[in-house]
Parts: sequence; C-alpha cells; structure tokens
Amino acid sequence: MPRTTIHQEAPAHNRPLVATENLKKHFTIEESLLARYLAGAKNRVVRAVDGVSIQILPGETLGLVGESGCGKSTLGRTIVGLYEPTEGDVRFQGKPLWGQGSMPKSALRRQAQIIFQNPYSSLNPRHTVRQIIGVALAARGVRPEDREVETVGLLRRVGLGSDHIDRYPHQFSGGQRQRIGVARALATNPEFVVADEPLSSLDVSVQAQIINLLQELQEEYGLTYLFITHDLRVAYHMSHRVAVMYLGQVVESADTDMLYENPLHPYTQALLSAIPSVDASHRANRILLEGTVPTPIDPPAGCRFHPRCRHRMPICEQEAPNLVPVQTRMQTGAAHRSAKRMGDESANGSATEVVNEVVNGRINNGANDMMKNVVRRKERTNINRMDAQHLVRCHLHIR
Ligand SMILES: Nc1ncnc2c1ncn2[C@@H]1O[C@H](COP(=O)(O)OP(=O)(O)OP(=O)(O)O)[C@@H](O)[C@H]1O
Ligand code: SF4
Ligand SMILES: [Mg+2]
Repeated sequence: MPRTTIHQEAPAHNRPLVATENLKKHFTIEESLLARYLAGAKNRVVRAVDGVSIQILPGETLGLVGESGCGKSTLGRTIVGLYEPTEGDVRFQGKPLWGQGSMPKSALRRQAQIIFQNPYSSLNPRHTVRQIIGVALAARGVRPEDREVETVGLLRRVGLGSDHIDRYPHQFSGGQRQRIGVARALATNPEFVVADEPLSSLDVSVQAQIINLLQELQEEYGLTYLFITHDLRVAYHMSHRVAVMYLGQVVESADTDMLYENPLHPYTQALLSAIPSVDASHRANRILLEGTVPTPIDPPAGCRFHPRCRHRMPICEQEAPNLVPVQTRMQTGAAHRSAKRMGDESANGSATEVVNEVVNGRINNGANDMMKNVVRRKERTNINRMDAQHLVRCHLHIR
C-alpha cells in the first residue's frame, strides 16, 4: 500500500505489560427445554477466542485486525477482565487476572480501560458528563471536591470545553461523544487501554481527529493500546505491531511495516489485497477470499482457514499449523511440525531456523525434498515468492 504515513517508533522496553497464554473464551448457547426434548438438541459452544497467545509491550500499540465475528472484541474484553477466560491466562504486569495470586479487580479497573465502538450506547443517557467522568474519578480515589477541576482538565485535554460538563450524551455529536469516552477512560489514569473500533461510527474527518488524539495521549501519558479495527489502513497508521485474527485465533503477527510489506499468511495476504486502492495494478492483484467465514460454533478441523485458502493441501484439513517465529522474533507464521507424516528425515534445526532459511531465500543443500518440491511447484505455477514462502512454511512439516 502507498506509504503516506509516518510510523511511530516502536518502544524499546521488552517486558510485556499485557500477555495472554493460550487464552480461550467460549460462550455456551443454551437450547430451550422443548428443543432439547423434541429434537435432542444440545447446548452449543461458541469458540469466540480459542487459544490466543499475545504480548503487548509498554508504550506500544498492538493493532488487532480480522473480519467481523473473528473474536476481536471478545479478546479485548477478556484481556481487561470483563470476561473470565474459559481456559488460559491473562497477565497484567506479570500478575494473573484470575486464580491464585491474581491482582485485585479494583486495581485492574484503574489500570486497564476500554473505549467502546459505539460512543452513544456506552455512555449512560441519563447521566451528565460530570457524573459519567465522576464515577471513573471516584474509582481512582479522587475526592468529591476535586472532581470538577479534574473533569474540566480531562475535557480540555480531549478537545471539549468546561461548558460541556453538565450536558447529557444526546447533546453531543458522535465525535464529541467518543471524546467523552476517551476522557472517561483517561480518568482512572490507566496504563493500558483497549480501543475497540473507536472510529467505526464516525465520519472520516472525525476519525482522523480521534486518531491524532489517541496518538498524542499515548505520547503524553505513555499509554499502551490494544487497537481493534477491521480497517487495515487505520491499523497501519496506529500500530507498532499488528496481529491478524481468524476464527478465534491469531494467524500471524509482526511489526507493522513487516506485515504490510511481506504478509506471509494467505489470510493476511487476502485482507491486505482487499484494501481499496486507486492503483489499477493493485486492484488487479486482489485476492478474492472464497466462501464465507465459518461459524465459531463448529470451526473447520485442521487449519481453520482451509475451506477458503487458495493454497490448501490435504494435510491442512487434518492438522493445524503452529505459529513459529520468522525473520525476527516479533513476526510469527504458521508451520506444521510433524516431519514424520511426510517421511521427511532430513529437516535439521528448529522450525524457526528452517523457515528463516526459506524465507530469506537461502535454500541450500540441506533443503529437504519437500522444500524442493515446493520450489519446483513455485516455478511451475509461477506463483510469487511470498506464496512460495507460505507454502514452504505451512507444508514443510518441520520437526
Ligand atoms: N456474549 C456472547 N454470547 C454468545 N456469543 C457471543 C457473545 N459475544 C460474542 N459472541 C460470538 O463470538 C464471536 C466473536 O464475536 P466478537 O464480537 O468478539 O467478534 P468481533 O471480531 O469483535 O466482530 P465485529 O468486527 O463484528 O465487532 C461471534 O460469533 C459472536 O456472535
Ligand atoms: S496453506 Fe494450509 S495451513 Fe496454510 S493457511 Fe492455507 S490451509 Fe492453512
Ligand atoms: Mg467487535
């Protein structure tokens, strides 16, 4: 995509502020007694988030992208403690949110905030701005007599005036309401903010203002963001790193520049190719995704993306690829690890080492037959280097 934006420098710290380990959040949909009695129907389980491991470093923005229903909001809400995980763990500053030794919920509510997609429904229509922000200030322990000064300060910081303090949400425009949502999130003095599609209900010009505001606030307060969006251009502009979600799982994550310049997963490639462009050559290279997103109630076996993947092979229907680090420790890609299935005894080294060999074009004498086959296939079908990298990565079956 055209490089019209200047990226923020990635922060230098290495210890994650937020980390999830094999995080799962499933919802059970209970069938009615009648359906159970007459049709033998069973309760169904929605696997909204199904094994996500991510890390977010202090001061950085991790963009979270993916199609509608892939589990972005559920992941965001589980990370800030609004949902209890079905399995796995969320850690904030190294402390678990749930179970033994977990951090107190009141401390979490102060340090981790969420900005919602729809600023109107997320603000109580019967409360004035003073009351809305006052609740958050009280959570931080601000004395009642100090709250007005604090509220006015916050309103000014997000571009509103002191005269707005006694108005109700319906007396504001969409952009102003989102600014109130931002002010409310800031009121607890948080370190971490989940911004869940904060721009999607706003006009383009207002979107730009909110993006700038969020970036300024990040710099000023050292905030860490999980920025959820289905707009890949916004994710590019906002994020230091981007994670791509599909059907409850992260399929690829990388530094923003790396991901946009060299997407490795076919799903990421398809998403990026669908970004609207005035460039005719870009439009011609668009990858059309086959079919629709399968339901998270009964996700496909093997690689969840296989029903829609143009590179799928029989193994993809049986075996899900693992994420392995590729190129740099920040980029991950998918690789099957079961060498024996292919009768491949010659793949040496870790999945990462072998994949990096291939990704960096250093295919040498140590390359196994599978690699060579993939490369031959690449030559035969004239697919580009990126595709070949993915084929190798997914189907090498590295030990
Ligand atoms: N409380 C709930 N009960 C049952 N199913 C739910 C619940 N919340 C979400 N889901 C289901 O979980 C899946 C993921 O939903 P989620 O809202 O996290 O997706 P999303 O990626 O945020 O989508 P969008 O881009 O449309 O906001 C969907 O199939 C959704 O229907
Ligand atoms: S090539 Fe196979 S493993 Fe890789 S994304 Fe496609 S279906 Fe999944
Ligand atoms: Mg959502």
